[in-house]
Amino acid sequence: MPKHVAIIMDGNGRWAKSKGKIRTFGHKAGVESVRASVKFARQNGIQVLTLFAFSSENWNRPAEEVGVLMDLFNLVLSSEVKKLHKNNVRLKVIGDKSRFAPKLVQKIADAEALTAENDALVLNIAANYGGRWDIVNAAKNLAEQVAQGQLQASDFTEELFDQQTSVANLAELDLLIRTGGEHRISNFLMWQAAYAELYFTDTLWPDFDEQAFQLAIDDFAERQRRFGMTGEQVAS
Ligand code: IPE
Ligand code: IPE
Ligand code: MG
Repeated sequence: MPKHVAIIMDGNGRWAKSKGKIRTFGHKAGVESVRASVKFARQNGIQVLTLFAFSSENWNRPAEEVGVLMDLFNLVLSSEVKKLHKNNVRLKVIGDKSRFAPKLVQKIADAEALTAENDALVLNIAANYGGRWDIVNAAKNLAEQVAQGQLQASDFTEELFDQQTSVANLAELDLLIRTGGEHRISNFLMWQAAYAELYFTDTLWPDFDEQAFQLAIDDFAERQRRFGMTGEQVAS
């Protein structure tokens, strides 16, 4: 079982269109798949689940769609946090929060504070997240420490850098799933995906249920993770 699973939840718009509905209908339907995935992760002992909800590039969508996505994020935060807390899930929102409305920022802070001590599952929601932003942000933090004389550039290591990223101090990313048929990272967890297993499925996000998640886990179980070694070395 992977310790850390991340999912690019793609295909909401196409799912809606295939049903003759507007794109935002797909986003609303996708919330049920989020619930199912969290439940699956919680029940199967996955330690960290990181869900890509809104990318730094998604602001380029029509204002109306962005508005619906923000409303939905607000709504889901309000309606689900208690249940997450009851189920011992720790919620974290990763991404650049500076562009969110102050009320939303406060709501996020409250939800994170309420669930901070929970330890059955860490649920990272990536919102206004970009992998490059994450890397630049980590570099900025380290540069600041150098400027303040707390650190020397020659002390930089991968571990030190990793600690400054938004998923620091959590299990390494094992499995990256993308639904919706595209084979790309779309600026998700760039640094963290270095040695993650990648799993692509044509299933559109609103159709991604516990059974679909299980298929991804089964596929992961078949992989041989070699980390640069030979297959023989790993097998022995
Ligand atoms: C993913 O579904 C949800 C977000 C990016 C917020 P899309 O909205 O990208 O759906 P498609 O890819 O257009 O079908
Ligand atoms: C990636 O999906 C972002 C999320 C799932 C939140 P997109 O649908 O925005 O990705 P691209 O632009 O097609 O690569
Ligand atoms: Mg898409």
